[in-house]
Amino acid sequence: MEENDKRRPITIGVAGIGGWGKNLARNFDELPDADLRYVCDVDPGRLGQARRQHPTAQATPEFRLLLEDPELEAVVIATIGSTHHALCKAALEAGKDVFVEKPFALKSSDAEELVRIAQERNRILMVGHLLEYHPVIERLRQMIVGNELGRMYYIYSQRLNLGTVRHDENALWNFAPHDISSIMYMLGRRPTDVSARGQSYLQRGIEDVVFMTLNFGDEAMANVHVSWLDPHKTRRITLVGSQKMAVFDDGEATEKLRIYDKGAHVNTDYNSFAEFVGLRFGDITLPYIKSGEPLRVECLHFLDCVRRRARPRSDGWDGLAVVRVLEAAEQSLKRRGEPVHLTWEDEIL
Ligand SMILES: NC(=O)c1ccc[n+]([C@@H]2O[C@H](COP(=O)([O-])OP(=O)(O)OC[C@H]3O[C@@H](n4cnc5c(N)ncnc54)[C@H](O)[C@@H]3O)[C@@H](O)[C@H]2O)c1
Repeated sequence: MEENDKRRPITIGVAGIGGWGKNLARNFDELPDADLRYVCDVDPGRLGQARRQHPTAQATPEFRLLLEDPELEAVVIATIGSTHHALCKAALEAGKDVFVEKPFALKSSDAEELVRIAQERNRILMVGHLLEYHPVIERLRQMIVGNELGRMYYIYSQRLNLGTVRHDENALWNFAPHDISSIMYMLGRRPTDVSARGQSYLQRGIEDVVFMTLNFGDEAMANVHVSWLDPHKTRRITLVGSQKMAVFDDGEATEKLRIYDKGAHVNTDYNSFAEFVGLRFGDITLPYIKSGEPLRVECLHFLDCVRRRARPRSDGWDGLAVVRVLEAAEQSLKRRGEPVHLTWEDEIL
């Protein structure tokens, strides 16, 4: 973007106008700082719908047209995961800034290649780790940084549902990018080892349910339970610290965050076993958190990064870190839960 073009809306094309891509197209069409120029989908039915919803944008089944338009600055990719690497690579090589949905790529070598191309060509590359833009996750991160929960003991997250059974990826790759990215964002750290167990009940080789454990090198640990074969629709993250505990329930319409002033400590001076552990039951508080669609916050962040040539919060390195954890979890799944060790270069920490 040229210096004298600073207030002109950023030109955007969205590829993949399916269940999720239509939300991205809607947001970019509504935001004054964006100019939605293209909607692209290979499915004629979905393309027709997108054409009706975004009459001022050009509707095309050909991704190539977006890349060939010299006036188009940024491409948003919301196609299925197996296509992300090829489309993202083509867009970066055509000189476009890119917002790509999770999972960033299906192999860490592919993710590394995309990070390298973006760096070489000085392109903005952002991955759709939506929860990193959720105001409750931001509040929890600040509480952890400010030591309000005390020492972090453990986190567990549940992303469960009955339905949305995919045949192109398992429940781990479909749901867990959100849990992995938000846990790493809140803790400000990468895991040192990963183990996972899961089962395929509906389709051979595609796990419907996965239990994944992340260790963080000290006593902090996290467990992620994902499933599309569960009676409850659940999107909940629980954090247990030495001083306080917190529950983020994204299924709640308004009261999404509860802080429990509860804890336990070991007494050094005790006469009986009953006195050995002291339990503390305090208030439960519901902090006011200004609501807002996290997707809108995420879209605004992308536009801001494109305009200022700034590094996105969920940039390619963050995307690569999540893919590495997923890949390690996948290896562990194949080895019936054996822990897989992870090491991180400085750039990705
Ligand atoms: N961030 C989030 O919270 C969130 C939520 C849901 C889905 N997603 C992600 O968004 C992506 C899309 O998911 P979905 O549920 O919308 O899937 P979907 O199958 O409903 O939609 C994908 C669309 O991409 C189109 N498509 C496929 N290849 C294409 C190509 N080469 N060019 C143009 N269009 C193409 C398909 O025709 C389809 O309409 C996935 O990566 C998914 O993981 C993210």
